[in-house]
Amino acid sequence: MKELKDYVVTIPDFPEPGIMFRDVTSILADAEGLKLAIDSLQKLLEGIDFDIIAGTESRGFIFGMPLAYNLHKPFVLIRKKGKLPRETVSETYDLEYGQATIEMHTDSVKPGQKVVLVDDLIATGGTIEAAAKMIERLGGEVVKMVFVMELAGLNGRKRLEDKGYSVDSAII
Ligand code: PRP
Ligand code: ADE
Repeated sequence: MKELKDYVVTIPDFPEPGIMFRDVTSILADAEGLKLAIDSLQKLLEGIDFDIIAGTESRGFIFGMPLAYNLHKPFVLIRKKGKLPRETVSETYDLEYGQATIEMHTDSVKPGQKVVLVDDLIATGGTIEAAAKMIERLGGEVVKMVFVMELAGLNGRKRLEDKGYSVDSAII
């Protein structure tokens, strides 16, 4: 039987020379792959007590929202700079290829709320750490970070676990 990792396609030198780009859209392009991805992520959340699922633009939206729907939780969008219409908090961070700023609405997480962060992939861990910092600035608590996959060699998981976060991915 096909495993989740078998659906991921690797494109060398995208978006720039030296980067091995792991394309998760090939998971979504197959109905069995899509179901396997969402079911696998959902399994990682079994037994966890939380209030909100937050996903980072853009691929974190794709994988986070179905989980929120299935588990009957609200979904919060963490967006790239300049997209959100109301008052925001923001964080700037480095990633594997460049720098970015992400934002979330200040009223999207209330003090004391427990948040699960979802993204397709962890590379350096910069994106998800920036997301966690914003949630914490709003008084929320990040109880879990889940990913479809991890990139070996960039130490993203270690960076986050060293800071006390609980990290899991569907493809190890
Ligand atoms: C990718 C990916 C993660 C992030 C991982 O997003 O979807 O969000 O990079 O890298 P990191 O662990 O080094 O931070 P990207 O910023 O390329 O945006 P996209 O999902 O809109 O393509
Ligand atoms: N985000 C950061 N690095 C990436 C990679 N190598 N493949 C896919 N998404 C990424």
